[in-house]
Amino acid sequence: MSSDTFSPLQLKIYAEERAYSFELLRRTYRERFNRELMPEQYADAFVPPADLVARIQSPEKAHPDCWFATSYQTILAYLGELSDHSVDILNCSSVLDFGCGLGRLSVHLQPLCSDVFACDIDDRVIAWAARTFPSIHFARSAFLPPLPYDDVSFDFVFGNSVFTHILYGHQEAWIAEIARITKPGGMAIMSVIDPNVQMSDWGFVAFDKSLVDEKYIEWSFDERTQNVNIYMTGKEQCRLWNRHFSVLEIRSHYNDQCHIVLRKI
Ligand SMILES: C[S@@+](CC[C@H](N)C(=O)[O-])C[C@H]1O[C@@H](n2cnc3c(N)ncnc32)[C@H](O)[C@@H]1O
Repeated sequence: MSSDTFSPLQLKIYAEERAYSFELLRRTYRERFNRELMPEQYADAFVPPADLVARIQSPEKAHPDCWFATSYQTILAYLGELSDHSVDILNCSSVLDFGCGLGRLSVHLQPLCSDVFACDIDDRVIAWAARTFPSIHFARSAFLPPLPYDDVSFDFVFGNSVFTHILYGHQEAWIAEIARITKPGGMAIMSVIDPNVQMSDWGFVAFDKSLVDEKYIEWSFDERTQNVNIYMTGKEQCRLWNRHFSVLEIRSHYNDQCHIVLRKI
């Protein structure tokens, strides 16, 4: 993406956020984990081409400053949640980035975990990621379960902005599948839509009426890809996830999605 797509102010903000969050990440890895960052975590050469980014997320992420800044903020949120629930990521040998896209977040687990797995349904996206990050175990997965992993394989499974795109009718099957592959006592964290952030332009009446009969709202459904945007009430999230996991918390994040933090029963 060319820099003339952005206003000078926007470019300045992305650059500032990248530098700021990079320092936070580097300090966290040094002081908490005694690890150094790898070039995959900060070098522009590892930013994917714009056309691939546009397949799976907002196209402005293809700008290196936006790509890295948002990935730093997001991975720090997941690491903070694990640590707040007394989970040491260094003890998580096997982790899965479910719906990994271009590996924007998987790369940050490489210095911390011995086996980083990542899967996605988009073949072109997975092909680029597998070529670019050969030490991560990428797999193309199917639109519906099962995933290509054995039962109780993972200490930690996370899905960033994935359950936000799964039809309500498929959510239960995917939750059961995440439960199948997570070790007892293991952790899962999934991001979900925070209506105060991603639906803040909806009027109150439209928002409220959409929830009158249902426990969720789906919009922008694409027949071809079956992709959708879904907001589900916290009560409904807990009802579905509680069948397999303890819901430890649903945490809000500044200007981003909420995270459902789960421990496998
Ligand atoms: C908004 S992108 C987020 C990508 C990545 N998690 C990140 O934060 O950079 C959503 C991703 O979920 C993937 N996805 C959607 N439904 C999926 C499913 N049923 N199984 C695996 N991946 C899925 C899409 O292909 C897409 O790459």
